Amino acid sequence: GLPHQVTIYEVGPRDGLQNESAIVPVEVKAEFIHRLADAGHKVIEATSFVHPDWVPQLADAGELLARLHRKPGVRYPVLVPNLRGLDRALELQADEIAIFASATETFAAKNLNRSLESQFDMFEPVVARALDNGLKVRAYVSMCFGDPWEGPTPVKQVVAVGERLLGLGCHELSLGDTIGVGTPGHVTALIDAFRTPERLAVHFHDTYGQALSNTLAALEAGVTTVDASTGGIGGCPYAASATGNLATEDLVWMLHGLGIETGLDLGKLVSTSVWLAELLARPSPSRVVQALSKG
Ligand code: HMG
Ligand code: MG
Repeated sequence: GLPHQVTIYEVGPRDGLQNESAIVPVEVKAEFIHRLADAGHKVIEATSFVHPDWVPQLADAGELLARLHRKPGVRYPVLVPNLRGLDRALELQADEIAIFASATETFAAKNLNRSLESQFDMFEPVVARALDNGLKVRAYVSMCFGDPWEGPTPVKQVVAVGERLLGLGCHELSLGDTIGVGTPGHVTALIDAFRTPERLAVHFHDTYGQALSNTLAALEAGVTTVDASTGGIGGCPYAASATGNLATEDLVWMLHGLGIETGLDLGKLVSTSVWLAELLARPSPSRVVQALSKG
């Protein structure tokens, strides 16, 4: 059956803005996050403490955290790949971090400059020190369904990487369909292969238009946390075939239609996406945003 309540893990400010060709001014990023909190989001991934040359779009991560008005009851996780990133995040009182691993050898090399095996040497001390400092740690696995260089990713390979990350002490594991090639049967098979569906989240990019169907399959398999980006912005600079994330508005439309609570104000999300689309000078790819913003 379906859950009564779903937590939407908002990734627009991080996954969305990391992929914009133009660099968005830090005050616009802050306002975006403030608007998301005002619309009812309880968890907003704010930015990344990665190497600034690798993702120049988020090189202002420190400045952004410093100027954020944090709303009580809202979590603002940040991406952290290594100890250098963790030091920067701790300095700015980040309350939660997310590490991001790859399910495939090629993407580990392209996104992290590490092998599949040596990515764990990088993450282990990060998780240990973050937990010592009282931070919660989420883990991502990318390329869970397919990889642009290696083709379909075997379920066993994803489970092996994911269980190892959970074993480090991460509270949640987000299964990333980085390039959006997954379909619902594959989603069900992958989730069923894990021992603890309640600790899983799903992270669908909508490249092939499967994100909503995949989400429904995940909810039926016991997942209650879904990643989405307001306006459907997003992608990955190290995987050219990645397009935007599942749009938060499309997800909210489906969930509310199913009678599932999200705590989100759809009207406020849509006006935020319209505001952002004007600043980015391109329309939101979300069908729900398009439908609800027509005069
Ligand atoms: P590297 O070149 O191997 O780094 O990059 P290194 O460890 O060799 O260090 C080299 C230099 O960089 C050192 O400086 C470090 O201090 C510095 P030096 O001593 O030479 O002067 N350095 C840093 N400086 C600032 N902040 C840092 C940092 N780290 C090292 N954090 C590294 C390895 C992991 C850093 C690099 O590969 C990287 O930053 N990768 C991030 C790529 C990225 O952000 N990709 C997008 C996010 S993942 C995604 O979008 C997928 C997801 O949405 C899920 C899905 O859709 O599947 C999450
Ligand atoms: Mg992503």
